[in-house]
Amino acid sequence: MKLWTGRFHKELDKATNDFNSSISFDSRMAREDIEGSIAHATMLGACGIVEQKEAQAICAGLEGILADLESGKLAIDPGAEDIHTFVEGELTARLGDAGKRLHTARSRNDQVALDVRLYLRRQCRALQGQLEELVHVLCRRAIEHSGAVMPGYTHLQRAQPITFGHHLMAYAEMLLRDISRLEDACGRMNVCPLGSGALAGTTYPLDREMTASLLGFSGPTRNSLDGVSDRDFCMELAACIAICMVHLSRFSEEIILWCSWEFKFVELDDAFSTGSSIMPQKKNPDIAELVRGKTGRVIGSLTTLLTMMKGLPLAYNKDMQEDKEAVFDAVDTLRMCLTAFIPMVETMRVLPENMRKAAAGGFINATDCADYLVGRGLPFRDAYKVTGAIVAYCIDNGYTLENLPLEKYKEYHHLFENDVYEAISLERCVNGRKVLGGPAPENVRREAQRVLDLLQERRAGQGGKDEGHD
Ligand code: ARG
Repeated sequence: MKLWTGRFHKELDKATNDFNSSISFDSRMAREDIEGSIAHATMLGACGIVEQKEAQAICAGLEGILADLESGKLAIDPGAEDIHTFVEGELTARLGDAGKRLHTARSRNDQVALDVRLYLRRQCRALQGQLEELVHVLCRRAIEHSGAVMPGYTHLQRAQPITFGHHLMAYAEMLLRDISRLEDACGRMNVCPLGSGALAGTTYPLDREMTASLLGFSGPTRNSLDGVSDRDFCMELAACIAICMVHLSRFSEEIILWCSWEFKFVELDDAFSTGSSIMPQKKNPDIAELVRGKTGRVIGSLTTLLTMMKGLPLAYNKDMQEDKEAVFDAVDTLRMCLTAFIPMVETMRVLPENMRKAAAGGFINATDCADYLVGRGLPFRDAYKVTGAIVAYCIDNGYTLENLPLEKYKEYHHLFENDVYEAISLERCVNGRKVLGGPAPENVRREAQRVLDLLQERRAGQGGKDEGHD
């Protein structure tokens, strides 16, 4: 059944019908479509646009459809043009004329703008929950390994010693920003387009505030053209998800490196690694690689949305039907990635001895050696030069800063004393970096605890705020 056959003399061509139809991907919004229709019908009844009795019958009918869909008693007809057509058709089959009144003062244009918002709002909150879980895992693992010394890198060259806990907390910070970005996106998305009609509003005396509040929106949209043609919320959510995926991808890249025999800083649990069909010794970090790979796909979805929108005149254009597959895929991909990534990080075995070995015996403490001289009164630039010369000597003669004899140190500068060895020990190097934001173990523990407290506060705060609008 089509909703728009009046002015046509022929059926739509079969292949064109399939091309035009969106049921294969918008049927996942069945619940939101029904919730939106219940709010619309309730408002139509309250405003006297549809008789109260009929409005109530419509709501009951819609609730019945939702229950039947959820219990599996009713299946979505894959031949329907879209989910809106299916629900309205089913309602009319059940109620007759009352069902036909549901679409009064509404267009599929404001209806679909509403459904996508309702659907994404829910998904956005679910993603935030998963990200909070990952941050939680990172904090716990950071506390566990707050004292594990590892090389910090720039240009993937050993640079200065840090702690593994500090490294993990860097990702926690990135993910906290992702959570707050999702929250912002969700806030801007949270306005109700119902009442925008096809593009020009409606002559019916609707109570748009009422529909908005019934659906848990902060208010109605303020311009009917924008109400039906805005897909910023899809682009913005996809952008948030793409940025988050980039974070997970960088983390994955590091995990892949850390798993290699060249690093061996971590070992993934068997449950989150795969083998090779030919090389019996292999244990591959496939999950991390897939997360890294799928990041390209999500960036692709964002590009799809931006490109799809960039040339569209106001108001609704059918191009916009393409919004759903792109943004849904971005949401699904992040959700799937997090579902695998969280337990992978939770269970990965950390090998602090190997991290320490990689940090020791090189020149990772050269800055601290220079700082030692600064502590004895030398200007930093001079101290830097002296230390550079010492490092060059060590490299040429097979020494490290740890085992270079004191007499040699003294040849380069008289301010060196026996306590230089203590000053450049890895523990001193990291323990001394207590500046706010630094890698000292006590900092890591304090920061991780601060974030854990923050998460707990968020959870406590959310209990009340989201009630009824999950
Ligand atoms: N399936 C359509 C979409 O996703 C619903 C809106 C249809 N409106 C229209 N005027 N054809 O955008």
